[in-house]
Amino acid sequence: MRVSQIARGWDVMKRIGFRIVLLAMVACIGPAMAWDGANVRNCTWCHGTSAQGYMVAPRLAGQRPTYLEGQMRSFRDHTRDNPFSKQYMWGAVAALDPSAARDLAAYFAAIPPRPANDGDANLIAKGKAIYMEGIPEANVASCYACHGPNAEGIREIPRVGGLAYFYVKARLEQWGEGYHSGIGTPMPVVARSLGPAEIEALASYLSFVK
Ligand code: HEC
Ligand code: HEC
Repeated sequence: MRVSQIARGWDVMKRIGFRIVLLAMVACIGPAMAWDGANVRNCTWCHGTSAQGYMVAPRLAGQRPTYLEGQMRSFRDHTRDNPFSKQYMWGAVAALDPSAARDLAAYFAAIPPRPANDGDANLIAKGKAIYMEGIPEANVASCYACHGPNAEGIREIPRVGGLAYFYVKARLEQWGEGYHSGIGTPMPVVARSLGPAEIEALASYLSFVK
């Protein structure tokens, strides 16, 4: 809808009343909004209402925009190659051009994230200790050093606080099994030294971080 049309709308509004013109304007804007809405719904029918995550699809709300954009590129290039990525995401981004990917990343990043709260609460203390200090004797780096004190991420390093237990657990296991997600990321090396009990504790702790 062009400015001249809006101006004409106001003009007419003065004459025939607000409600009728408002209806006419909504009818004009309608198709454009439906397109944007449909685009986001292509994602949220898997990623959940307000993109807070649902089943195996992770939360996108509040994630770092540069990280989201980078992962969409990795799905497109087939660099992120674990089974769920292949099954669900390769197709979902196949037709997204870079500017649509950037817009979607900015849109999801701006939604306030809610924590999944679905880990084992008894493991919070253990998970937090590994997160903050790493395990020096096993050569495990502190997660805090890269992901930040509250697991909020920075620049292209993702927010991991509040992500769902099963998602974080699978990610850490899959890096250890040799799957990739981006080129030259440190996570395969970080995850290789983590045992199952440590992964469980980390994924539990992170699920409760607000
Ligand atoms: C059919 C279901 C489905 C649809 C549709 C879908 N996704 Fe996904 N998405 C997934 C799953 C499942 C994963 C997790 C992959 C994994 O386990 O590594 C994922 C992962 C992602 C990730 C990585 C998140 C992270 O924290 O690393 C991004 C980014 C993403 N999706 C964006 C989108 C966008 C944008 C759309 C819409 C254009 C979309 N998805 C549509 C199922 C879907
Ligand atoms: C040297 C920096 C660094 C350290 C140390 C580090 N990470 Fe990461 N982490 C990253 C980067 C960079 C990514 C993004 C990977 C990509 O682009 O695929 C990431 C991704 C992740 C993800 C995926 C998030 C998502 O949305 O899919 C999880 C989970 C994660 N890290 C957990 C951890 C845990 C737990 C630790 C500590 C044991 C840790 N990281 C230590 C840099 C680091």
